[in-house]
Amino acid sequence: MQSEGASIGMEQASMTALYARTNTAADAVDEIMRRGGPELRERMARAEAHLEQVTAQSGMPLASHATATIAAGGKRLRPLLVMLAAESAAGPTEGPEGEQGLVRAAVAVELVHSATLVHDDLIDGAELRRGRPTVATVAGRKAAIATGDLLFSRAFAELARNRDTEQLRALSDASSALAAGELLQREDAYASDITVERYLERCSLKTAALFEAACRLGALVAVEGTTALAGALGEFAKRIGLAFQLLDDVLDVSGSPQRTGKARGTDLLDGTVTLPLILARERDEQIASLDLATLSGPAQAEMLCERIAATGALDEARERALSIVAEAKAALPGPSSDGRYELLDLVADAVVERYC
Ligand code: IPE
Ligand code: IPE
Ligand code: MG
Ligand code: MG
Repeated sequence: MQSEGASIGMEQASMTALYARTNTAADAVDEIMRRGGPELRERMARAEAHLEQVTAQSGMPLASHATATIAAGGKRLRPLLVMLAAESAAGPTEGPEGEQGLVRAAVAVELVHSATLVHDDLIDGAELRRGRPTVATVAGRKAAIATGDLLFSRAFAELARNRDTEQLRALSDASSALAAGELLQREDAYASDITVERYLERCSLKTAALFEAACRLGALVAVEGTTALAGALGEFAKRIGLAFQLLDDVLDVSGSPQRTGKARGTDLLDGTVTLPLILARERDEQIASLDLATLSGPAQAEMLCERIAATGALDEARERALSIVAEAKAALPGPSSDGRYELLDLVADAVVERYC
């Protein structure tokens, strides 16, 4: 007879496989990799190998949680932005300088992202991440705090090897913004009067800032003294990151766990007031008068998700995200005859494809 642990393990394995197959944004990223040709693929493969190496070297037992977090996958959207921004900044004929520096920057950005996810899941009380149980669920609160801290510190150690204070500033600004965003989220938890502006400020801090840093870093590593272009690419990425968070918040209400690798209604249960709820409150008095703190569990959260969807709030939130993506594309310098922004443009489309 099979043990309980083994059967949970099998369920988990099929869940992870299903998640991987149905994650459309991951498909869009794969398509960008195909279009980027062998150089982009090699660079990303080098970053992936380095990422594994850096986490594995961190010393047991924390290294096992850090390695599991990285090995669970993820779209690697931020490292991809580092590489694509570098190529755009340098132009296709020149090619970016400092291969090793680029790999380090890409790894550092993904490490900060992973650190934040480990801490975010602990703060949000989330049980699933990338189709697998979160570090906090598997190893407990203290291990999750320490694993996140470890990933953060490895990120800065890695980027420090590039010996460039501008690069360090780009990542540390994003890291501070992430922490400020999480704090704002806690401050606003369960509140009934969160405005769209306040919500957008939170998203800019907790998500858009790291997207911006990824593009800035790519440009900074690839070409010395490219501050204007680094700024323009950063602006593009900031908008993409904002739209990305808006759509993530839509998916929390509309997406199945197989699709997202995360449980539906997690934000609502955790008291996080997102755009779909803010818009639904304007349209449905019963939703407006509901106190999130009274939600008794996942079943009630699911019901609230259905009710929010019925107001049409999800469509409006999606439309807002789409117009931010359009703004991002318009903010790219160009048009250029050498197609140097083409793949970044596709990343913008990939963000939108997350919910298709
Ligand atoms: C999840 O980011 C956190 C948000 C900003 C919404 P991703 O959706 O990029 O996570 P992974 O890395 O692909 O798992
Ligand atoms: C994004 O917010 C997390 C960070 C940027 C740290 P969410 O809390 O919505 O992300 P998910 O839904 O857990 O991936
Ligand atoms: Mg979360
Ligand atoms: Mg979310």
